[in-house]
Amino acid sequence: METRALGRSGLAVSRFLLGCGNFGGIGSAPELFGQGESEEAAFELMDTAIAAGITVFDTADAYGGGRSETMIGRWLAARSPERRPLLSTKVYNPMDEGEDRGLAPARVLRQLDSSLERLGVDRVDMYVTHDWDVDTPIAETLGALDEIVQARKVRAIGASNVSAEQLEEALEASAEQGLARFEWVQNEYSLLHRDPEDEVFALCERHGLGFTPFSPLAGGWLTGKYQRDTPPPPGSRMALRPDAYSAFETGATYDAVDRFLDAARERGVSPAVLAIAWALSHPRVTAAVIGPRRPEQLKSILPALELELDESERAELAELFPR
Ligand SMILES: NC(=O)c1ccc[n+]([C@@H]2O[C@H](COP(=O)([O-])OP(=O)(O)OC[C@H]3O[C@@H](n4cnc5c(N)ncnc54)[C@H](OP(=O)(O)O)[C@@H]3O)[C@@H](O)[C@H]2O)c1
Repeated sequence: METRALGRSGLAVSRFLLGCGNFGGIGSAPELFGQGESEEAAFELMDTAIAAGITVFDTADAYGGGRSETMIGRWLAARSPERRPLLSTKVYNPMDEGEDRGLAPARVLRQLDSSLERLGVDRVDMYVTHDWDVDTPIAETLGALDEIVQARKVRAIGASNVSAEQLEEALEASAEQGLARFEWVQNEYSLLHRDPEDEVFALCERHGLGFTPFSPLAGGWLTGKYQRDTPPPPGSRMALRPDAYSAFETGATYDAVDRFLDAARERGVSPAVLAIAWALSHPRVTAAVIGPRRPEQLKSILPALELELDESERAELAELFPR
């Protein structure tokens, strides 16, 4: 699989990052800890990802309340893979209902140590702030992140779920204080969520940052699996965690998705392939964080890596989804 430079971090990443958010839960939602993929299913997905050429696993301390990192750690120990994937993990969300959250320096240092322990490694390659902490000045967080970079516990740092304003503030703080800087952004980006086009992409370009979007299928909405007036398929994302996607449940979204399904049919590709190719083809997108539930889902989207869409093809598809 093709790799690309991740900003100026010195790291190169495959164009797909394996999202491990469904291992032992559905993301960081405590009420779903223990659900999602079993360890056996997670192992199969990791095996399939490595066989397909994926070089990065994306997880977070709080995914499945620690279960995602633990499964990755056990997989690394069991397989001792010849080509060890880069590990990307995150910090911010609480590890369980009622536990602490945020990016206070002491918490960042503590959470990183707990991630290293669960993963069974001395260092993670990519460390990501999972959200913006309104209660902690970003310069303080960057101080802690710089410390762990200097201590070689982390190779590069990135920021997730940041606005352009927040990103700019963080980059200025790093420059002014000579601290490690965020080298890439991991925000949501898909045909149904195009906010990064407003300002964040321009900022990434200006500062030479990478961009690795999550949810390129909008949690499955762009596959056409959700139909008007029909309950979501059992076990699907909308059945398990509907709140995160309630904004999509409008007539306008169903109409847009229908038009998109027609466009995919005309091209002779699956909607999932077209949706992921659309996200990957933006010049600012370094690589996409994908979230397959099963090996077949992962294999079925590999053709997206070969489907390059030019600017006018991307614009035509985007027009199907009025903002
Ligand atoms: N930084 C953050 O805040 C953040 C937030 C969200 C996600 N992430 C990361 O990004 C990863 C991916 O996010 P995501 O899971 O929301 O991505 P996504 O690709 O938008 O949605 C994944 C969902 O789409 C469905 N799906 C996946 N591949 C499919 C295929 N080939 N055919 C049909 N349906 C398919 C599955 O739905 P069903 O479950 O219904 O089968 C799956 O749960 C996560 O694992 C996590 O690592 C990060």
